[in-house]
Amino acid sequence: MDYFSYARDELFCEDVRVADIAAAHGTPVYVYSRQTFLDHLDRVRSAFSELNTLVCYSIKSCHNLNILRILEEHGASFDVVSVGELRRALEVDADPSQIVFAGVGKTDEEIGFAIDAGIGWFNVESEQELERVNHIAGKLNRTAGCALRVNPDVDPKTHRYTTTGKKETKFGVDLERARRVFAEFGNRSGVDLRGIHIHIGSPVNTVDPYVRSTQKAVALIELLRGDGHTIDTLNIGGGFGAHYTGDEAPPAKSYADAVAPILHGTGLRLILEPGRSIAANAGILVGRTIFTKAGGDKRFLITDAAMTELLRPALYDAYHFAWPVKPPSGFAPAHRSADLKPAGSVLVDVVGPVCESGDFLAKDRWLPPMERGDLLAVFSAGAYAAVMASRYNSRPLAAEVLVEGDRFRLIRRRETYDDMVRHERV
Ligand code: LLP
Repeated sequence: MDYFSYARDELFCEDVRVADIAAAHGTPVYVYSRQTFLDHLDRVRSAFSELNTLVCYSIKSCHNLNILRILEEHGASFDVVSVGELRRALEVDADPSQIVFAGVGKTDEEIGFAIDAGIGWFNVESEQELERVNHIAGKLNRTAGCALRVNPDVDPKTHRYTTTGKKETKFGVDLERARRVFAEFGNRSGVDLRGIHIHIGSPVNTVDPYVRSTQKAVALIELLRGDGHTIDTLNIGGGFGAHYTGDEAPPAKSYADAVAPILHGTGLRLILEPGRSIAANAGILVGRTIFTKAGGDKRFLITDAAMTELLRPALYDAYHFAWPVKPPSGFAPAHRSADLKPAGSVLVDVVGPVCESGDFLAKDRWLPPMERGDLLAVFSAGAYAAVMASRYNSRPLAAEVLVEGDRFRLIRRRETYDDMVRHERV
């Protein structure tokens, strides 16, 4: 699953003591395992190897340049949603022709920048966007590769904020409108509309929504081909699950086995945009207990890690397994699971110092007894953690550290007060 494990009553990331990282770089700190990133990339790639597949890691899930560089060196391409993300990909020398650019609100500047950079595909989400891409490409004397993002109206059975393939969401164009869009834009000189894109939501812990949306997309592609359009690419987006509460995410191979029969004989190039399934279990967030206290019937563990470092519990009520970095003797978990309740454990809420009642990392958890000064690890924080951080309450952005075997290095230094106010000193 990953390279975070307890040995001799303390947490290791690969061969490094997590406590040593906290001592060297302070807390809160994100700790990433290089080997876990690579293993997960490899699992997706090998699961889909029978199909003609391009894996475009979704930069939005964890965008640190040092991590992107490692993934790029190991054959990943990239899915971006802004010029900022595109520039990150270019900075690590990604091949622009293998980059996909999604997003419902690309500005003229972003479209121009991306055409100029020579990206492979715009995942176009509306008629107006196609109009702008065609226009801007024409002015630059270029033709932009495009896939039309369609909304397959399939329920991925995940949180409503991360559901994207249902009709009522803002994403893509309705399936029924797609033929008209191809009729109108299929022959414009500025766009080469040759693919279909779908992304139904995240995390999707069952394969069935992929089956239904891929079937709908392939049926559409057959219709479009019948209309005389050349369609060579199907992008089924990201959304594959990761382990948060235990081992709930299906292996990559299950998704591959489910969609392979639908693609059989279509000759389509498949594009994937996995983020979470590669990054989530490759990182943890480490905080230090500032105080413990009672409040009403509750006991609180107040850590220096907060909603500013991991927003997911506050935003989605998301569960992240949390456990002391150095639990008392006998409390090291043999496996991570939402059901753990060892004898002698205490029911607590893990909260941060931010002035919001929504500032919690874990609620009603049975944890080993912890004291002021003890370190706490919050797991599955490689994806949608550092990238969603904020400076609320004037909290500087935390440090990020990458572990490689028995070594670790800082890959983002902790912000200072001066970093925080620099842009205000105008
Ligand atoms: N492709 C598109 C078009 C997307 O919108 C996303 C994620 C992905 C790929 C990558 O999905 P993944 O493989 O990482 O599941 N902040 C939320 C997740 C939002 C996902 C947004 N789009 C969270 O913390 O759960």
